[in-house]
Amino acid sequence: MLHAHYLTCDLDGLHPRFSWKISTDLPNAMQQAYHLEVCADGFLHDSGEVFTDQSIFVAYCGSPLHYAAVYSWRVRVCVNDAWSEWSDYAAFETALEKWQAPFIQADDAPGESCAKIFRREITLRKPVQSARVYATALGLYDLQINGRAVTDTCFNPGWSAYQKRVLYQTFDPTPYLSNGKNTLEATVAPGWYKGDLGFVQSRNLYGDKMAFAAQIDITYTDGSAETILTDESWQFADSPIVYTEIYHGETYDARRENPTHWQPATLMPAPAFAVEPFDGVPVRRQEVFAPIAFFTTPKGERVLDFGQNLTGWVAFHVSGNAGDQVILRHAEALDSEGNFYTDNLRHARCTDTYILGGGSEKIYQPRFTFHGFRYVALDAYPGDIDPARFEAVALYSDMEKTGDFECSEPLINQLQKNITWGLRGNFLDIPTDCPQRDERMGWTGDAQVFIPTAAYLYDVRVFFKKWLRDLALEQYPDGGVPYVVPDIIRLDPKLDFEHSSCGWGDAAVIVPWALYQAYGDARLLANQYASMRGWVEYIRARANNNLWNTGYHYADWVALDAKEGSCHGATPTDLCATAYYAYSTSLLAKAAAALGNDADAVKYRSLHADIVQAYQQEFFTPTGRLAAHTQTAHILSLVFDLTPDAFISRTIGTLVQLIADNGGHLVTGFLGTPHFCHALSQNNRLAEAYALLQREEYPSWLYQVKAGATTIWEHMDGIKPDGTLWSAEMNSFNHYAYGAIGDWLYTVVAGITPTEPGYKRIKIAPQPGGTLTHARATLRTPYGTLESAWEIKDEKFSLRVIIPPNTTAEVRLPNGEVHTVGSGTYVYAGEK
Ligand code: BGC
Repeated sequence: MLHAHYLTCDLDGLHPRFSWKISTDLPNAMQQAYHLEVCADGFLHDSGEVFTDQSIFVAYCGSPLHYAAVYSWRVRVCVNDAWSEWSDYAAFETALEKWQAPFIQADDAPGESCAKIFRREITLRKPVQSARVYATALGLYDLQINGRAVTDTCFNPGWSAYQKRVLYQTFDPTPYLSNGKNTLEATVAPGWYKGDLGFVQSRNLYGDKMAFAAQIDITYTDGSAETILTDESWQFADSPIVYTEIYHGETYDARRENPTHWQPATLMPAPAFAVEPFDGVPVRRQEVFAPIAFFTTPKGERVLDFGQNLTGWVAFHVSGNAGDQVILRHAEALDSEGNFYTDNLRHARCTDTYILGGGSEKIYQPRFTFHGFRYVALDAYPGDIDPARFEAVALYSDMEKTGDFECSEPLINQLQKNITWGLRGNFLDIPTDCPQRDERMGWTGDAQVFIPTAAYLYDVRVFFKKWLRDLALEQYPDGGVPYVVPDIIRLDPKLDFEHSSCGWGDAAVIVPWALYQAYGDARLLANQYASMRGWVEYIRARANNNLWNTGYHYADWVALDAKEGSCHGATPTDLCATAYYAYSTSLLAKAAAALGNDADAVKYRSLHADIVQAYQQEFFTPTGRLAAHTQTAHILSLVFDLTPDAFISRTIGTLVQLIADNGGHLVTGFLGTPHFCHALSQNNRLAEAYALLQREEYPSWLYQVKAGATTIWEHMDGIKPDGTLWSAEMNSFNHYAYGAIGDWLYTVVAGITPTEPGYKRIKIAPQPGGTLTHARATLRTPYGTLESAWEIKDEKFSLRVIIPPNTTAEVRLPNGEVHTVGSGTYVYAGEK
């Protein structure tokens, strides 16, 4: 059995790249050649047999492709001297050559939060062969044809740097069109464009009026074609969604369905931004949860518990009289008395209201808002409450789940689950810090610390590709990087913030490099390269003698060694900033080398050496004492290779002492915590790393788990041992940043790392420890599924690995044995 499957095509304008995976039982399977065909009506590209082992991101090199066209392609592969059959066909579709449709507007006032419907009737007199709708909005939109939803994607058109680019979606409306009269309807809501946004209660940050634009292409069976663009022939009316805001929730008045007061839409002047095809991962409805409990709190609130903190909304069934109401409020936690706790939502009201129109039973769910919640308070509901009539729907970008980790310790398994839900809860079109309070912004620091873990859990390449493009677009001319992307801080007249904090702006370099390691996409790296270099040059212009000791920095944010009432950890800012300057510069040099830019590789290697030297002179005494006596200072000095060789044992010794001095626990924040276990395990302190991971008392990862967390908290002490809560100002229970420990589970406990980008070459070097008796991780790499599973039984260690076709691996056993292998399944056994 030999075949190519999982065909994927990456579109970049008219320049697709093709990837496939090889399925075979042959051991040591390596691709020797491929043969690829691309087909369309009257067009065919035949690559012929191409002798190469490249099976990912193979660039199309046939004659030019057409815009707005559908192609199919297939591949066959030669592996170990045998050719496979042709694969099944896969399809891809190119984008419009250029956006033509004008934007149309309604009459919404700047403060208004009612969704509007834009409508137009079209009459089809001939049978339709195929059709496409290309649509976008300033605001959020969904589409119906003849009352039926055309799309299953949510929060269209997504959140991009709207002042620079607004994205459009492509849908196939053919199944919804019928002969004769058809009604096209788009419902448009304020969303991120004009709704309340940011933590200082601002709105209209991109504009104070919603708009909609669409192009409908219809091809008839007789070969003729027609294009319909939005124009003044469209009408608008208030929708039954009388109020909708991302932070505050939605009010739907079923009595206002079928509006009668239609007015002509007006044309918006030609915009300054570009309209581009959507280049991210669409948000879809994912898991659904039934309530695990229904109870009344001491204060008398009737509460449904869905058992999982998630991001999404509640769908419910209801019947009653016209004017009856259902009112749902959402919360992540209960307070120490067991009452419904919403203080940490700050100004976000997170309330959905459904006003019944009477008649038969209805099923309702919101469309243009989302909530971060586990609990729902039913402030109003007509009749008896049957929990079975409610379900929580998780919403997130529809990425492929690629990784799994499981071990003998149930608490660690729950931690892994919580990390995964931290990702799901915060990967809603952009990577957000949190999904519940009046924030939900693309904080660069959070993304930077979590990216290595994220890439072990889901295929996040395309998701971050979109976000990185916005990051680059929003970078300042001097290379400075905003705190958040899309950068609403810059747009907010109430805020006079700086930009470019260490550990935050570094996302410009760290995220593309991490993606390159995980997925091997050199084009993505090349596209980001100018942005990466811009960031390092930004710092260089502000550094003094290679020390970054200027500007404002969040640095070791929310560390437990911060002064009472402060979020800034005790590690000196210039140390954190210079450490990150060195790290980003070293990655930039590697990226330059990977892209064949030798001049830059030499230049930034030399700059890196200078920064390291300056760091060592400034922060280490001549006898190797680190000037800053904090855990994070020692961690960064070790993991970013800033410690002189002669001082490594002193530095790691002091770090271990600093754990003991703090009663065996961490006091690190955003910058130190993600690397803590690595700093220990990379320096022969595996036992201490496991002890930190497995600590169950406050503060620790497992303390949260034992306290019932189902996601990752913003603070290690979000809920304190006495049940009291951290300040409501900053207490998210769904912040993925500290989930960055997930990377250690995969790379050290299970021992999986790529040694050539995209896992073309792999290292498997599990390091068993702690009380674990087995651990197993699987990862769907670009080449196929990889597995590392070890067990300790009767003092004997055994390891099973699965290496995907077209890759090679170095397997390193804990006893020091090394095996170099090709694809296949291998079992190794030995003394512990
Ligand atoms: C966010 C963080 C973010 C930080 C920056 C907070 O409000 O929730 O996760 O990185 O601000 O300081």
